[in-house]
Amino acid sequence: MSTQPSTGHVTVDVLLTPDDLATMLRTDVRTGLAKSPKSLPPKWFYDDRGCALFDAITRLPEYYPTETERGILLRNAEAIAEQSQADTVVELGSGTSDKTRTLLDAFAQSGRLRRFVPFDVNEATVRAAAERLAQDYPGLSVHAVIGDFEHHLRALPTEGRRLVAFLGSTLGNFAPEERKDFLSQLAGILRPGDSLLLGTDLVKDVGRLEAAYNDAAGITAEFNLNVLRMLNRELGADFNLDAFVHHAFFDPVNEWIEMQLVSATEQRVQVSAVDLIVDFSNGEQMRTEISAKFRRERVEAELAEVGLHLTEWMTDPAEDFALSLAFVD
Ligand code: SAH
Ligand code: TRP
Repeated sequence: MSTQPSTGHVTVDVLLTPDDLATMLRTDVRTGLAKSPKSLPPKWFYDDRGCALFDAITRLPEYYPTETERGILLRNAEAIAEQSQADTVVELGSGTSDKTRTLLDAFAQSGRLRRFVPFDVNEATVRAAAERLAQDYPGLSVHAVIGDFEHHLRALPTEGRRLVAFLGSTLGNFAPEERKDFLSQLAGILRPGDSLLLGTDLVKDVGRLEAAYNDAAGITAEFNLNVLRMLNRELGADFNLDAFVHHAFFDPVNEWIEMQLVSATEQRVQVSAVDLIVDFSNGEQMRTEISAKFRRERVEAELAEVGLHLTEWMTDPAEDFALSLAFVD
């Protein structure tokens, strides 16, 4: 790991260098494209272009989660600061940390805030966010970490009393077994007094759910196809982006949105950097993402299973989205 001083009160721990990422990408592509059905892990959506596209998604009229979660944060930030008694806010999958400002404002007002630890796989996005936050919150020490939250939670800074925020329903993007694994690792690094603030999208009308992942402007389709563009660039693949179609639908049995890229024709793709030739049949579906939709009972039970005790369940009036505050038992 390298710790690089930056301007002001910003430090950046780099747990994942571009070389590490390149190695992980090769492994994931070899494994994912050899599976049946084919799949790719979601973290590869978030190259610099992917982060910018996600940012655009959060502003789409159909994509209600971001603004709904922001509203819940606004109404409850003071109480969260009070109940958590934290002086350190850690944010997993922090991205631009835009919504998190709502929380930081309340913590700052309580006079308690010392440290902010944004943690994300995308280095450029976190560095830019960290610099802006250090400027906007004088006296705040920003300790950014570039890493993979499936592998590097144990490397998180341990100073202070921590509130770990995991917003945007990113938890829903894990497959169920991975979600369990992640939650148990997360619980394992929390100490008595630390708390978790978890944002989860809730089960609702299928029409609204599906519209959120099939926006009229086609940004989500661009975001989905961006993963192929990234493979072409990083691994010398020759995916034809016009020969794959974005497909997102609600699976009522699993209660999740499934996102796929569907091959519009029978085609062969080469991924030269890993010496791979991949055949797609006409209509073949490759899974790129799931986004689980939750109910209170499930969130509460999954937290309890890893020894986290739900103390607050905060929703918007329509109960579209929920924030949970939980403590180590
Ligand atoms: N928290 C923000 C962004 C959510 S998008 C919000 O609520 O709007 C998901 C974020 O998680 C992206 O910034 C992405 O780069 C990051 N991410 C995805 N997989 C990751 C992983 N395995 N480890 C660390 N960060 C990851
Ligand atoms: N955590 C977000 C969600 O599940 C991520 C997301 C939003 C997303 N839109 C997307 C992921 C489209 C893949 C495709 O809602």
